[in-house]
Amino acid sequence: MTIFDSVSHNHEQVVFCFDQDSGLRAIIAIYSTALGPALGGTRFYPFADEAAALADVLDLSRAMAYKAACAGLDLGGGKAVIIGDPARDKTEALLRAYGRFVQSLGGRYYTACDVGTYVSDMDIIARECRFVTGRTPAYGGAGDSAVLTAYGVAQGMKAAAERVWGTPDLRGRRVGVSGVGKVGRLLVEHLLGEGACVVVADIDHAAIERLRARHPQVGVAASDELPSLALDVYAPCALGGAVTDQTVQELQAKIVCGAANNQLAHPGIDKLLHDRGILYAPDYVVNAGGLIQVADEIDGYCEPRARERASRIFDTARLIFALADKQGIPPGQAADRYAERRMAEVGRLRKLWLSNGH
Ligand code: NAI
Repeated sequence: MTIFDSVSHNHEQVVFCFDQDSGLRAIIAIYSTALGPALGGTRFYPFADEAAALADVLDLSRAMAYKAACAGLDLGGGKAVIIGDPARDKTEALLRAYGRFVQSLGGRYYTACDVGTYVSDMDIIARECRFVTGRTPAYGGAGDSAVLTAYGVAQGMKAAAERVWGTPDLRGRRVGVSGVGKVGRLLVEHLLGEGACVVVADIDHAAIERLRARHPQVGVAASDELPSLALDVYAPCALGGAVTDQTVQELQAKIVCGAANNQLAHPGIDKLLHDRGILYAPDYVVNAGGLIQVADEIDGYCEPRARERASRIFDTARLIFALADKQGIPPGQAADRYAERRMAEVGRLRKLWLSNGH
């Protein structure tokens, strides 16, 4: 298969960035700029090979376009991967070389943090490039994007609760949170604040201990057992692919709503959950708070404005559930259709020529 064959017909642009001296090998994928510049994080990861890196960046950039569209942002979707082990290969020269490639795209792509990159790295990249978000507060950035991600997931969960139980109130509901890292632990705090009863699982024992030191009332389960417990809501907040065919059979929860990107092991899980009467809150709809947070930096970060925007995830999730019901389709599919419609309808306006060069 050639490189062109492996790139989906729908991607606008895929850029390979190579700098021999610093060791930079990166791929930037722009899925769509129909709604605005493509924004998405840079993943620094020791991919097994270049094909795996390309497949990942293509998938992730598409998901970013759908996430931005559903969140009502004037942004397209893009993502970047740097091939390498961040612990060993990340240097100032490599990050700055990468920054120069991002700059060369002239604002078609804005970068941000992802797995293996941190706000301090964004400050280094920004020494060569204007199109960087996810920066430290010292440089006007929003800081850790987990804050509004967790807040947004809590909003999405309340919308799902309203759909299933007729009230967004989570008081007394039993929620299982799988993965209590940056997002999961903040989600637990929101849930406790709402009066929910929380059970957590994490393969990292230290993460559980840190959480329990602050919130001893939180229950603990083994990661592989959590989905099968008597829960009202299952919240995958670890890695992608957490909801498998087997999970669907085991689940007792009435709602699946969590932060993890690409949490369904394959797209057909959306329908399997639907057929079992379990409401799936589409991952990219409810976890858009982090994107909303970093996107706000483009206009000069304003926390109240970003939080207000993230609170609208409640309305978006509610709308997606209503569309799914009306069309008799699972919510994941309804979210895809909603995003595609917005990209087409608003993107179409670009054909009207404006004299300022847009
Ligand atoms: P993190 O790396 O801080 O936390 C992930 C946690 O999951 C870690 O504590 C890890 O030990 C645990 N974990 C890993 N495998 C597990 C397993 N099999 N079972 C249970 N726990 C397991 O990552 P973060 O930032 O909290 O992100 C969590 C998820 O949310 C990821 O899928 C990420 O892509 C997604 N996300 C994060 C956003 C952000 O702003 N940080 C924004 C949107 C999505």
